[in-house]
Amino acid sequence: MTGMKDAAVPASPAAYATAVATAVSAAAAYYADGATPLGDDEYDALVRAIAAYELAHPDEVLPDSPSGKVAGGAAVGDVPHSVPMLSLENVFSAEELADWAAGLERRLARPVAAWCVEPKLDGLAVAARYRSGRLARLITRGDGVAGEDISHAAEAILGLPQELGEPLDVELRGEVLLTQEQFDRANELRTAHGATPFANPRNGAAGTLRAKDRAYRVELTFFAYGAVGLDESGHSALLARLADLGAGTAAVTAAAPRRCATLDEVQQRVEEITALRAELPFGIDGVVIKADAAADQELAGEGSRAPRWAVARKLPARHKVTRLLDVEWNVGRTGVIAPRAVLDPVLIEGVTVTYATLHNPADITRRGLMIGDQVFVYRAGDVIPRVEAPLVEQRTGAERPIAFPEACPRCGDAIDTSQQRWRCVRGRGCQAVASIRYAAGRDQLDIEGLGGSRAVQLVEAGFVDDVADLFTLTKEQLLTLERMGETSTDKLLAAIEAARLQPLARVFCALGVRGTGRTMSRRIAAHFGSMAAIRAADQDALAEVDGIGADKAVMIITELAELAPVLEKLAARDVGQAVREPVRRVGADAGAGAGAAVGSAAGTGAGTGADGVADAERVEAEGPLAGQAVVVTGAMTGRLAALSRNEMNELIERAGGKASSSVSSRTTLLVAGAKAGSKLGKAEQLGVRVIGPEEFAELLGDLLGDLLGG
Ligand code: IVH
Repeated sequence: MTGMKDAAVPASPAAYATAVATAVSAAAAYYADGATPLGDDEYDALVRAIAAYELAHPDEVLPDSPSGKVAGGAAVGDVPHSVPMLSLENVFSAEELADWAAGLERRLARPVAAWCVEPKLDGLAVAARYRSGRLARLITRGDGVAGEDISHAAEAILGLPQELGEPLDVELRGEVLLTQEQFDRANELRTAHGATPFANPRNGAAGTLRAKDRAYRVELTFFAYGAVGLDESGHSALLARLADLGAGTAAVTAAAPRRCATLDEVQQRVEEITALRAELPFGIDGVVIKADAAADQELAGEGSRAPRWAVARKLPARHKVTRLLDVEWNVGRTGVIAPRAVLDPVLIEGVTVTYATLHNPADITRRGLMIGDQVFVYRAGDVIPRVEAPLVEQRTGAERPIAFPEACPRCGDAIDTSQQRWRCVRGRGCQAVASIRYAAGRDQLDIEGLGGSRAVQLVEAGFVDDVADLFTLTKEQLLTLERMGETSTDKLLAAIEAARLQPLARVFCALGVRGTGRTMSRRIAAHFGSMAAIRAADQDALAEVDGIGADKAVMIITELAELAPVLEKLAARDVGQAVREPVRRVGADAGAGAGAAVGSAAGTGAGTGADGVADAERVEAEGPLAGQAVVVTGAMTGRLAALSRNEMNELIERAGGKASSSVSSRTTLLVAGAKAGSKLGKAEQLGVRVIGPEEFAELLGDLLGDLLGG
């Protein structure tokens, strides 16, 4: 399955013994403080390989083998459990789940009356003993037979009431975890107190439960999923009763337990919970499927390690351990200098992760990272992977400190370090060349002749600092530049003159405001009609535009405030003023009307015709590749050199395009690198537009900077 590695079955008794030793020490570390160099997937795969060996060599089973033991035989404690705290069998696919369910029904010799499907919470199992409704003792699972007394931690656990709604003698069982918010807060507190941050929420929950006499208080969360001493007719009734008594349960979450009548419904709920995973405010490492009825549970009974009436459908881990090879510093278009982790490639949920964001320099310091460290990396859904923390205890002494830049890595000027996000003191000016090239691009102001070295010449000569300065360039100035004759000067000036009349959407787009590509610029222009109205818009007004949420609105306002000098110059130079943005409706009439209006006013054809009409008509994905069907072939170079094909495809999708692996009549763009082969031939045959990696990187502009820059 995706993201799940298969460990090879040991080939010899010695290899088997080594595998057992590795699993035992990983389990010990995991149950002690969650800090193990083996990720969850690798541990599961290793235990499966050990079990496979033992099946073939039953005489050789070592006494400390983790097979069939709760917590891999690792955890100890001295408080005996009233009833053993069992673990769960695992299945790793829908098929394995169906097989397991069929096995259970065979054992029962009747269909399961109903199922209950709930999240598998990624924390630590605890037993909370109540006497006359008052919390008397809190115990870890330990080895399932006895656990550790962690009553000292109880008071900081949300969802674990000190007193129940009824004066019962009962034991609640469930999972204690750190929500993402609690995890972030815990690490803030720890670093403020000079402690190393927790590597991940599970590790944090384990550490917090064990810690005594801390100078700070870390809040945790409890979700109950079981009880000893409550006699309900089934699992879902039990969960409802637990909630009534005042305990936290997963019922309040989007992944709420659901009673299902059939296995099809079960599989569907499993899918739903899996899909919700990225949005949940806490980690889950699977979905638990339980026979709901108490009568079915009783009849099925229990094995030594796990009940026969419940199973965990495991999901691939999102935290993986890998090595931090380097830290790169990239300068974004606005001058932000962002660190990015270069990692030993690691597979997370089927995606090879090579880079991860480190947010800002303070983040590196906070996490105490060093080059060469083993680090926990987290990736979920579409988010950019992030480095969470180093495994300090794995250090060998060969790790090196991370060098922070002393000057802007792009222009060499000073760095403004007054904010958490470091910035080149030149701000947008640092990237004047890139900004000008972007503004002059075909989808923005469409000024031919500013794509190559011309923009560099203009900036280096001091003639332009930003896009607005293009509109005061004189013939005399241009003629002083190398390789600029009369003809090319006239041509460039004419192209600039034409750009003055570009519609608002394109002028706005040319500003390169973060979070606004072509589509968003079109929507904003269509909504407000003039640059003055856009500038006057407050957060609420901006949020009326489709696709702009509160956060994006604030970002746009901030960016526009920063761009005020450029906007003023543009207004004074009559750029984007001549053409009122046509009111756009979705539909052919509106499209044709808009195209014609823009065309006649601009008088250049730029931004009109096919492009203009299509722009007005289509409601399309956002981004520089919106509406494009893109195929990549050959070796990428330049800024794209380090990207895998998969990462290239992700990039295309994020840029609004559709990535595909083969060239067909639907393909609109082929990115062809070195040694491109048959795909290039086919694209040429079909008349598909072909560009190289550099041009492609330029096309992605902003977006590529954001992604590569973290
Ligand atoms: S039921 C007798 N339900 O997963 C039934 N366990 O890998 C035992 N876990 O030891 C557990 N979420 O720590 C159950 N909804 C859930 C759970 C859950 C997380 C944990 C629990 C268990 C481990 C097994």
